[in-house]
Amino acid sequence: MKRKILFVFGTRPEAIKLAPLILAFKKQQDKFDTRVCVSAQHREMLDQVMDFFELESDHDLDLMQPGQSLFDITARGLKALEAVLDLEKPDVVFVQGDTTTAFIGALAAFYKQVKVAHIEAGLRSGDKYSPFPEEMNRLLAGRLADFHFTPTPSASRNLELEAMKGEIFMVGNTVIDALMLGLELINNKSGIDYSSKFNFLEAEEKIVLITGHRRESFGEPFEELCSAIRDLALEFPEVRFVYPVHLNPNVREPVNRILSDLKNINLIEPLDYPHFLWLMNRSYLVLTDSGGLQEEAPSLGKPVLVMRDVTERTEGIEAGTAKLVGTSRKVIVEEARALLSDKAAWEKMAKAVNPYGDGHSCDKIVKQMEKIFFNQEVLGIE
Ligand code: UD1
Ligand code: UDP
Repeated sequence: MKRKILFVFGTRPEAIKLAPLILAFKKQQDKFDTRVCVSAQHREMLDQVMDFFELESDHDLDLMQPGQSLFDITARGLKALEAVLDLEKPDVVFVQGDTTTAFIGALAAFYKQVKVAHIEAGLRSGDKYSPFPEEMNRLLAGRLADFHFTPTPSASRNLELEAMKGEIFMVGNTVIDALMLGLELINNKSGIDYSSKFNFLEAEEKIVLITGHRRESFGEPFEELCSAIRDLALEFPEVRFVYPVHLNPNVREPVNRILSDLKNINLIEPLDYPHFLWLMNRSYLVLTDSGGLQEEAPSLGKPVLVMRDVTERTEGIEAGTAKLVGTSRKVIVEEARALLSDKAAWEKMAKAVNPYGDGHSCDKIVKQMEKIFFNQEVLGIE
């Protein structure tokens, strides 16, 4: 008998990291009925990913409202999921990571006594308020999960230390599967000239790629971070600073106010995934507070300065391709200056490493679920 799997997600990074997994389950049509529910906690930024990977949703909760609060998405999303679960009656609900959609997806499944599979389980910063609310979202999703698919050995260890119930499988991070699939799709779509979107770039120009959107940094830390970028742009007029600005109004206001008047800073709209990968690949240095970028940039051999006080993605730091620099204007400027002006320091960080996965995480997850549901022999899974 086929098993029904319901994916619940709602933001850009969840969609990117789940796209290859959904496609992998859909290939096993004889075993799995794969259904997709998007909360649409994000709208445009989610749709960009759905379009690129040619994914369609079976349910769209259309939650997003401008400037939404955590209460908004939690309450409206949880209620809307009740009807979806009543209709679909899945055998298992898959959620990814640490967004509010991931947490309420797990909670809704629990209320209906449906099993929960948590992808990218076990990340911990150890600080309840940083990243906020992600640290608690993933911890609570973990408590509700029956199957924990962790990206790294240390994530598995975190769950074991917390005596987490359920089964733990170390499979790597599906972000690497997405990255590889993304690069493959870009190469297949050979008629598209990705560079044409970036006609402001000079051929040999050094690019610093910037993204930032964390809630715990809103207010003063975010102003500091923007001021640091301004200082750097003034100190290095020959370097181009490209910032695809997140659509959150709490991000856009300070970014536009502090950074819009400098010639070597390009504030651009969020890019679709292939254009973003193209730009990251072309960059010299990445300044970010994003979780996903900390995982992707090491694979592409790009040094990353992580503009946060804590990170749950410690493997890139240990591998030496990422450095935690906080949100102090002075420190960000010093650390970026060192990499922009000292080739040896840059070369030390610019090495391609893959601490987060080998690009086969999705196959491992599908095989594990086959084993769980159909008791099939699975090779290569711990
Ligand atoms: C959310 C996640 C965060 C994740 C991030 C990825 C939560 C609480 N936060 O944060 O974990 O790292 O997504 O980007 O789950 N907006 C748009 N269009 C969009 C997307 C957002 O206009 O396509 C604007 C809206 O005004 C929206 C606001 O951004 O209200 C905030 O979106 P929200 O999902 O609540 O928070 P993020 O900061 O995006
Ligand atoms: N990304 C994208 N377009 C952009 C910026 C980022 O497609 O303009 C991708 C990026 O490659 C990564 C993911 O979005 O896979 C990261 O999303 P975000 O920073 O919003 O969330 P986080 O990873 O911090 O949760």
